Amino acid sequence: TPASVQVPDLAGRHVLISAGGTREPLDPVRFLGNRSSGRQGVALAEAALARGAVVTLVAAHLEVAAPSGASVHSVSTTLELQQAMRDAAAAADIVIMAAAVADYRPAEVQDGKIKKDVAGDRVTLDLVRNPDVLVGLVQDRRPGQVIVGFAAETEADDTARRELGRTKILRKGCDLLVLNRVGWTQGFATERNQIEVLDGAGDIVMEADGTKLSVAHRILDSILGSSIDAIR
Ligand code: CTP
Ligand code: CA
Repeated sequence: TPASVQVPDLAGRHVLISAGGTREPLDPVRFLGNRSSGRQGVALAEAALARGAVVTLVAAHLEVAAPSGASVHSVSTTLELQQAMRDAAAAADIVIMAAAVADYRPAEVQDGKIKKDVAGDRVTLDLVRNPDVLVGLVQDRRPGQVIVGFAAETEADDTARRELGRTKILRKGCDLLVLNRVGWTQGFATERNQIEVLDGAGDIVMEADGTKLSVAHRILDSILGSSIDAIR
């Protein structure tokens, strides 16, 4: 459905979306990051706004502009993103974790630039696990709140990839999981996306292939379809 003829089926609903990729600093000039551009999360924000929602966007290093009309909270690290999501989730009817979140952060952040003459020819990074933001949001879920996760997998085999998605949603406990395939040349910084949506049991309830905006609308359709009673 083109955005121009959207019905306001999210009027008055609060939709909270994380988008982009977190960065974990190593020193004042360097970080560990990932290739997420934020395009799919921003498209979700745009689509939700077009359908009348009140939209909060927790933005981690977006490569594209956030839609005007969204309330934007910029963050950098996973811990900052977690705090912003927790704060905003208290008022959200729908929470979508589209951000690519760093699983690990450097155990220590250096105050000054890491220097080669000190570090030597070969360097080992000592990393610690970040908390799982999505699992925390599911644990603190408000009654009726719908929580959606994303999973980008490099597994090429469709059956094996869906199995990874099923295992992931069962572990996370969210209501829906948006699964897509990524690779060196796939999924990032592109205008199009190809996704499957899994329900809480890990079964495929929707497939979409199109622009990130059209895919965003289909994801919102799935959310409304799966949970119409819960959020009414
Ligand atoms: N996620 C999160 N907090 C983390 C890691 C991931 O909230 N520390 C969220 C992501 O935003 C996404 C979902 O969990 O919505 C799945 O992320 P993904 O990286 O695919 O799953 P992981 O549990 O991190 O497993 P792995 O990277 O080992 O496949
Ligand atoms: Ca991960």
